[in-house]
Amino acid sequence: MNAIEINHLRRIFRAQIGVFNRSIKEVFAVDDISFEVQQGELFGLLGPNGAGKTTTVKMLTTLLIPSLGSARVGGFDVVKQANEVRKRIGFIFGGERGLYWRLSGDDNLRYFASLYGVDPEVSKKRIPYLMEMVGLKGRGNERVGGYSRGMKQRLHVARTLLHDPDILFLDEPTIGLDPVGAREFRNVILDLQSQKKTILLTTHYMFEADALSDRIAIINKGSVIALDTPSGLKKHVSDLSVVEVETFGASEIVIEKLRALPFVDALSVEDRDQKQMILIQTERGAEAVPDVISALEGQRVGRVIVREPTLEDAYVRLVGGGA
Ligand SMILES: Nc1ncnc2c1ncn2[C@@H]1O[C@H](COP(=O)(O)OP(=O)(O)O)[C@@H](O)[C@H]1O
Ligand SMILES: [Mg+2]
Repeated sequence: MNAIEINHLRRIFRAQIGVFNRSIKEVFAVDDISFEVQQGELFGLLGPNGAGKTTTVKMLTTLLIPSLGSARVGGFDVVKQANEVRKRIGFIFGGERGLYWRLSGDDNLRYFASLYGVDPEVSKKRIPYLMEMVGLKGRGNERVGGYSRGMKQRLHVARTLLHDPDILFLDEPTIGLDPVGAREFRNVILDLQSQKKTILLTTHYMFEADALSDRIAIINKGSVIALDTPSGLKKHVSDLSVVEVETFGASEIVIEKLRALPFVDALSVEDRDQKQMILIQTERGAEAVPDVISALEGQRVGRVIVREPTLEDAYVRLVGGGA
C-alpha cells in the first residue's frame, strides 16, 4: 500500500474582485495533480511561491476540501474518512504559531499530549524521548519564549510526533531559520527518515530537496511538471554547462541581448547586494564565454566561471528562466 495516493486533485478558489463592477475570479491553485508516495519515502514537493504546495498539503491533511479529484493518506480517503487520516498524520506549517510561549517546552508537550488523548503513562516516557530526539534534551524546563527560532521549530516537530504518526507533512519547515538552525532541523528530518516515517516535505530550497528527498515532484502553477529522483532530475540538464557571470548594474536591455544569443538555453539573474549573477545554461560550455563577454561590452564584468549543472539549474530549465 502507498502511504499517499493523489488522483487528479484540484482546488479552485473563487475570489471576488473589484468594488463597483464585482466579478468572480477563479484561481486554480491545484490543477489536476496525481502522484503516489511510498511508505517510508521522503518525498519533496518543490516549486516557486504560489505553485500550490501549501494548498496540496492542506487537502492531504484534511484542512481543506478538494474541489475535484481524491486523495488517500494511510489508506483512508481524506474527505470521507478524515478522522482516520487525522489519527495517522502529523503536520507542521512553516512559521506556524501554536506553542505556548509562557509555558516550558515539557509543559507544552504535556498539554498537547492530553489534547490529543495520549495516555499519560505513555506521554511520561514519550516526552523525554522526543525532546532528546529533536535535540532539546536538558532544555525542557525553560520557557518556550526564550527558545531560538530553530528550537521552537524542533519543538513543533516533537509536538506533532506525540501520537506517533506514520506520515508527516512538513510545509517549508526551515523557512526563516538561520543556517545552523536549518542544518539542525535537517538532522531531525534524517532521524525521522531512519525511523521509516513517510515524509512529504515542501521547500523552495533546492539543495535541501536534493540532500533529503528520495523523489521530488516539481510543481508550477498548480501542476506537476516533473517527478523523479534528484539525480534523475539532474539528467535533464546533464548535456548543459552553466556559465556564471558576475556583473554590476547590467540593464534589462543587456540581459535580453544575452538571452537572445542562439546558444543560450536558459538564463536567470540573481541579485546579490550591488552585484548580479547572470546564470546561463548552454551546451557550448567554456566555448560560449568569449561570445558572452562580447555581448556584455561596455559593462563592468567580474568573475566568470563555467561549472556543472546542479538541481537548481534543472529546476530553472523546467520552471523557466524567470524563476
Ligand atoms: N484562501 C485562498 N483564497 C484565494 N486564493 C488562494 C487561497 N489560498 C491560496 N490561494 C492561491 O492559490 C495559489 C497557490 O497558493 P499556495 O498553495 O499557497 O502556493 P505555495 O504554497 O506553493 O506558495 C496562489 O495563487 C494563491 O494566491
Ligand atoms: Mg506555501
